[in-house]
Amino acid sequence: MKTLRGYVKEAEEKSVAIGHFNISNMEGLHAIYNAAKKLNVPVIIGVSEGEEAFVGREEAVALICAFRKKDDYPIFLNADHHTSFETVKKAIDAGFDAVIFDGAKLSFEENVKITKQCVEYARNVIKVTGKDILVEAELGYIGTGSDIKDTIPEGAGVLTKPEEAKKFTEMTGIDMLAPSVGSIHGLIKSGKPHINTKLVAEIKKVTGIPLVLHGGSGLHDEDFTNAIKAGVSIIHINTEIRIAYDEALKKSLASNPNEVAPYKILQPAVDAMEKVVANRLKLFNGMK
Ligand code: G3H
Ligand code: ZN
Repeated sequence: MKTLRGYVKEAEEKSVAIGHFNISNMEGLHAIYNAAKKLNVPVIIGVSEGEEAFVGREEAVALICAFRKKDDYPIFLNADHHTSFETVKKAIDAGFDAVIFDGAKLSFEENVKITKQCVEYARNVIKVTGKDILVEAELGYIGTGSDIKDTIPEGAGVLTKPEEAKKFTEMTGIDMLAPSVGSIHGLIKSGKPHINTKLVAEIKKVTGIPLVLHGGSGLHDEDFTNAIKAGVSIIHINTEIRIAYDEALKKSLASNPNEVAPYKILQPAVDAMEKVVANRLKLFNGMK
């Protein structure tokens, strides 16, 4: 099996994107795995610092390894939006395949400084253990939180400048960049702006590295396909899966008030999440 770096390169060459989906529990993991396996496409599981604390850091690694081993399947684990060198280091030490240092709220200089520290640590790990860990960083601000928002939060949507992206990439040596190109984290009731595909293409051209699109929930299909054409190789979805879980679970509980077996109560939630993931994966991988 190829490494995650190999799969990302393949996505770049084929002009498709690998789906990155966050989990909070086993149900989410099963749903994402089922969807990816049926379509036979690689997939990345993400855990933010909060999700990681709930699932368990080492437990998340063990789970993904078990799924990968079971069918020799390309499923990878990413430490999503980790906000300090210490939490990035812990994820690398635990065996994550990729990490994101999220310094989007920091000054350019501070973001460069900590990102560089993360990259150096990952490069040292490959020398010692042979494990290749991808390091991603953020530049520009697209807000926080995979939740439902009425409108775009104050201060979010600060677009990434291509010249800064170039400088940042050269100074840090990152493997992948998450720029701010129009999307916002979470589902925005009043609607999300369109992706600025011209900006995606410019950033891709000047950085020459794989780009990651965050804040995928609620974007239009054409925004995804245009972003992929312009140079996005990984796309993050979280809120849409959370909503599918929440709605299906509430419905399941309400319609079966006497049921107490969690695996029966939760099955509709797994199915609902799988459906969301499958639809997104088809789109990201150019399938009908
Ligand atoms: O890192 C996670 C994502 O960027 C998810 O964004 O909740 O808008 O899908 P979303
Ligand atoms: Zn994100």
